[in-house]
Amino acid sequence: MLENRRILLIVSGGIAAVKVPDLIRRLRERGAHVRCILTKGGAQFVTPLTLGSLSGDKVYQDLFSLTDEAEMGHIRLSREADIILVAPATADIMAKMASGQADDLATTALLATDKPVMIAPSMNVMMWTHPATQANLLTLKNREVKVVGPSAGDLACGEVGNGRMAEVPEIIAALTRFFQKNDGQGPLTGLRALVTSGPTHEPIDPVRYIANRSSGKQGHAVAAALAELGAQVTLVSGPTNEADPDGVKVTHVETAKQMMKACSEALPAEIVVCAAAVADWSVEGAKQKIKKEKGAAAPSLNLSENPDILATLSLPGPTRPMLVVGFAAETQNLIESAQSKRAKKNCDWVVANDVSPGTGTFGGDSNTVHLVTADGVESWPTLRKRAVAERLAERIATYVQRHI
Ligand code: CTP
Repeated sequence: MLENRRILLIVSGGIAAVKVPDLIRRLRERGAHVRCILTKGGAQFVTPLTLGSLSGDKVYQDLFSLTDEAEMGHIRLSREADIILVAPATADIMAKMASGQADDLATTALLATDKPVMIAPSMNVMMWTHPATQANLLTLKNREVKVVGPSAGDLACGEVGNGRMAEVPEIIAALTRFFQKNDGQGPLTGLRALVTSGPTHEPIDPVRYIANRSSGKQGHAVAAALAELGAQVTLVSGPTNEADPDGVKVTHVETAKQMMKACSEALPAEIVVCAAAVADWSVEGAKQKIKKEKGAAAPSLNLSENPDILATLSLPGPTRPMLVVGFAAETQNLIESAQSKRAKKNCDWVVANDVSPGTGTFGGDSNTVHLVTADGVESWPTLRKRAVAERLAERIATYVQRHI
């Protein structure tokens, strides 16, 4: 996706400039052409020689350089790019961009450009959260400036919080996504996803069955969100009232065993999300309707264990999907149960949600989830199920782009 893309990389003066050599290396490995503008502040952290050697191009620093202007005017510099990436973007350069100042080569190029712009902010947490910076950020976002990061963590200034520049793979993923979108593709184009959703119905006899309260809303929303990012999605759904999502191949099933079979037939897939509330047991069902005989004891149900679809799809092997995501519906010890479920079932991520009575999760439109991965637990705010699905799909896209 980055092959032959021309990236004008503006390096402003933040400590995160030390990550820029690696960024240039990774971009060039992917076939991108990188040309750098280094601000005065940026040059305090990284030398023009380093940037020039790695980019294989001249590094531009001076607005009033006669040689530079003769070779390549600042207007041409800003136009001969497919995107301008400001990394790191300090609070200062963001403020200048927001107010349209042009007092050096970097800000002049940014004002003179007609090309898309992406920034990777990097600063102290107080500077990041300051209303001035947040107002500038909003102004830039309203002008369609793309933003990657920052993330939370230890900052070079010794404080902890939001303000760390996005890591190099994250910036690469954001650029890749930008170009894909620009080309009318999604970040998951060319990838196959399998999603399970809804409850299963386990027949007791031809008229009765065992079911659960799953509505299928979350699973269907995940299937739709993955399709919107370009994935080729198969949704295997138990009985629900949800409409089949647009652009998704849907296989309707009733029982866990049918769901297992449909999932096996839908493979191979790079991404699997098991959101279905699969019944753990099936009933040794009667062929005919069980009749109530006067005075007879109540019939007992003979249960046998259903296949665990998530665990089966997560089994190691050459055809194992790149990313398998399970859901954990719990009424107590939410995080611990989700963590142990992740280990027990060998899946990569678990989306844990509290389904206790009163949370309104089952059948409701919103959900409060925690994403449990190998890296730890991320608690998301209460969101509409559609928004949970979109956020999860975005996370999946970032993950697979890093691992492809
Ligand atoms: N799951 C599955 N097949 C099953 C049971 C569960 O694919 N037979 C998947 C669900 O789709 C979900 C995850 O496993 O992604 C967790 O389901 P859950 O019902 O919470 O876990 P169980 O394994 O049933 O464990 P328990 O009921 O003991 O909590």
